[in-house]
Amino acid sequence: MNQESRIITPDQLNRRSFLRRTGGLLGGAAIATALDPSQFAHGAATSEELKIALIGCGGRGSGAANQALSTFGQGPVKLVAMADAFDDRLKGSLNNLKNQHKDRVDVKPENQFIGFDAYKKAIAAADVVILATPPGFRPMQFEEAIKQGKHVFMEKPVATDMPGVRTVLAAAAEAKKKGLKVGVGLQRHHQKGYIETMKRLQDGAIGDITSMRAYWNGATPWLKKRADLEKAAGRKLTEMEYQMRNWYYFTWICGDHICEQHIHNLDVINWLKKGAPVKANGMGGCEVRKGQDYGEIFDHHAVEFEYEDGSRCFSQCRHIVGCWNSVSEHAVGTKGKSDISRHTINPFGDGEGWRHKNEGDKDPYQQEHDDLFDAIRNNKDYNEAEYGAMSSATAILGRMATYSGREVEMAKALKEAPSIFPPTLAWDADMPVKPGADGMYPRAIPGTWKPY
Ligand SMILES: NC(=O)c1ccc[n+]([C@@H]2O[C@H](COP(=O)([O-])OP(=O)(O)OC[C@H]3O[C@@H](n4cnc5c(N)ncnc54)[C@H](O)[C@@H]3O)[C@@H](O)[C@H]2O)c1
Repeated sequence: MNQESRIITPDQLNRRSFLRRTGGLLGGAAIATALDPSQFAHGAATSEELKIALIGCGGRGSGAANQALSTFGQGPVKLVAMADAFDDRLKGSLNNLKNQHKDRVDVKPENQFIGFDAYKKAIAAADVVILATPPGFRPMQFEEAIKQGKHVFMEKPVATDMPGVRTVLAAAAEAKKKGLKVGVGLQRHHQKGYIETMKRLQDGAIGDITSMRAYWNGATPWLKKRADLEKAAGRKLTEMEYQMRNWYYFTWICGDHICEQHIHNLDVINWLKKGAPVKANGMGGCEVRKGQDYGEIFDHHAVEFEYEDGSRCFSQCRHIVGCWNSVSEHAVGTKGKSDISRHTINPFGDGEGWRHKNEGDKDPYQQEHDDLFDAIRNNKDYNEAEYGAMSSATAILGRMATYSGREVEMAKALKEAPSIFPPTLAWDADMPVKPGADGMYPRAIPGTWKPY
């Protein structure tokens, strides 16, 4: 059968053909332009197998694949392809997933892809794609998945710079046109306590919201030291290889911790405000976490975000051991206050407070996959990419404020802030960020660093 003879008229499109066609046999982009989007108004019947590809086989990717495979109660699912920059990461993840889901993991050697272009080949093999590499790669991989007509679950943040956000927003619009479903790993949106609290706050439980606070003050994350990596490899690493292994500490690939972690809290505030802030100013630096392997990111950021209605969110994130820790979101209104993260609402005065009671609420990491697969199988509208992109943009804006020390505007930043992604993806690429003669990476200096 040649390719043309596989093109079916819209009314011949059955559920399986929807999946196959958006699954890459013909290439999703070609089909989307050839057919009206409403023709995709079919889900996958419960009996139909959804093929899954995992791109980025680390801790979270393996977790997300486990959760996607755990939706088998809704209908058959199979992991059929995996892609990673590094062979050892892929193999480790594959072994774990086989232990967890024996019959639902069938990743043949020819469907195990390694390297910078691996994602394209893995995407082509699947109906649903999980994107869980470090976030710098997300925009190009999401764009490719949508181009190939695949449903997507992608981890947060969805970009580390504003050009990346623009790419994701454009691909999100394309996904909507093609009827593709997109989940983003901002799992608080699938956590019952948050959903119930947010409903009440948006219904006016504390009146007009006048101020918000968001924190991710906590411990310092993992570190992969160059010396240890080189010892294990038995050779010197190229700069690209080192930065990709120790990715947390490089802004182009991680976004800094304001983007990589604190996005969760900023996203909750955006959810409450039904939009992203218009401006930010802040301060930050690297006070304690010093040393060559700590790369170029800061260890603390404090940002004041301003929303369109003039209300403000005061945000802090810190990676310094021995300090006050809190991972939480709060709102104060004209009639009361809420600890959103603890799911409590307390009116000012004598009124009775409210607290969400957790009565066996489902794990939000599982719930977000249950919801995505339900949307795919039952053709429900489902596209979290837009708010995922704007919450990523919020975190990036905050970083631009702390790096520059200036007031930065969302509209201008979205339009004018430059790309920080390496121009060439190759193991021996000349990296834009390099260590100086002392082995230390230069950090942004507020007052000097230019946001746009
Ligand atoms: N939603 C959450 O609560 C949550 C929790 C943890 C992590 N995350 C997010 O998940 C993502 C991954 O984090 P992690 O902790 O799993 O990191 P990780 O380092 O364990 O995994 C990342 C994997 O991606 C691979 N990789 C790197 N570049 C690649 C490329 N170009 N193509 C293919 N593979 C590539 C790495 O080799 C590694 O195996 C991050 O964006 C992180 O913010 C989200």
